[in-house]
Amino acid sequence: MYQDQALDLEKQFTAALKSIARRSDLKSYVEQTPQLNRILRHAAARFVTGEARQDGLDAGQKLIAKGYAISLEYIGENTTDASECEAAVKEMMTLIDDFGQKGTPARVSFDLSHIGLSLDTELAFSNLMKLAEQAQRAGVELFISMEESSKTGQILSVYKRAASIYPNVGITLQAQLKRTPQDLAMLASPCRVRIVKGAYQESDDRSIPRSPALNERYVELVESSIRQGHFVSIATHDEQIIKTLLDQGLTGSNIEFEMLYGIRPDLSSRLKAAGHPVRIYLTYGQEWYLYLCHRIAEYPPNLFQAVIDLVSNEEIEPVQSYN
Ligand code: FDA
Repeated sequence: MYQDQALDLEKQFTAALKSIARRSDLKSYVEQTPQLNRILRHAAARFVTGEARQDGLDAGQKLIAKGYAISLEYIGENTTDASECEAAVKEMMTLIDDFGQKGTPARVSFDLSHIGLSLDTELAFSNLMKLAEQAQRAGVELFISMEESSKTGQILSVYKRAASIYPNVGITLQAQLKRTPQDLAMLASPCRVRIVKGAYQESDDRSIPRSPALNERYVELVESSIRQGHFVSIATHDEQIIKTLLDQGLTGSNIEFEMLYGIRPDLSSRLKAAGHPVRIYLTYGQEWYLYLCHRIAEYPPNLFQAVIDLVSNEEIEPVQSYN
């Protein structure tokens, strides 16, 4: 009985935090209240490298030096102002150039709704093409994140058009969506695909909640991606799923493990030490508030750590936790 109540509370907590993340009034309050902004930014340092591009590049270089591959995201989504979309594209172009000039083997990840999808599909497509062209020249990989299910069809169709011209563009699929096995089957082979569980709250008719059934679906999606000849990023921190896949003898040059910066560095370190390719997904930017809420919502014990961080003056440097 008590356990049921606790689970129910956890679900409500997750939903509340996800809606807090979307409340523009709360976000403005955080942005405009210096003291609050400072302490929350301190807590966000567990998951976000900093506000500036250089913060992401510096943390990324340290991880590369330790033998990890990296993804870097300039945080942002649901941008409804055309000039902000343009500014985001400019920022990503500079990031791609930085990687290209230093010869850093990296992946740039982003939401299509950060570069125009919330305004016009064609704007998102043309911005994606600009990024893909530049990335191809710089030897950089681009990865499109997956957003709410209301956008899945649009995102996939923009991705497919771009990937038919630029093979350096990859796509993220969410195991939690019931439609995903069909979406996966419709991708041209071979391509670059990242399998995640899914971070968005979706209705029961469209999605599978966190459960053994979802974990089974996740494993099946990875297996069928490999069968289809795709390069697969296994993007989960779920140790049981990873164990199941490794027990099946999953190895080779067409897979990698990918985990979010600051989450389960112990697991990333162990996988790397065992000789598996591991990529760490880093973020930077001013929109860290949204990202912090998401990371706490998907794993409520993070709230305890966040509260400890709020009152601590200790410098937080997650890179040090990676061996
Ligand atoms: P699950 O949530 O079941 O957690 C399994 C275990 O992992 C937990 O028990 C805990 O030990 C650990 N864990 C998970 N989250 C944690 C956290 N925040 N803090 C501490 N420990 C945690 N989603 C999406 O909808 N669209 C996208 O494009 C992406 N992109 C993306 C890229 C990459 C590289 C990753 C790793 C993840 C995403 N996600 C995403 C997020 C993804 O959908 C999912 O919400 C998180 O990865 C958490 O799910 P897990 O697979 O880790 O399992």
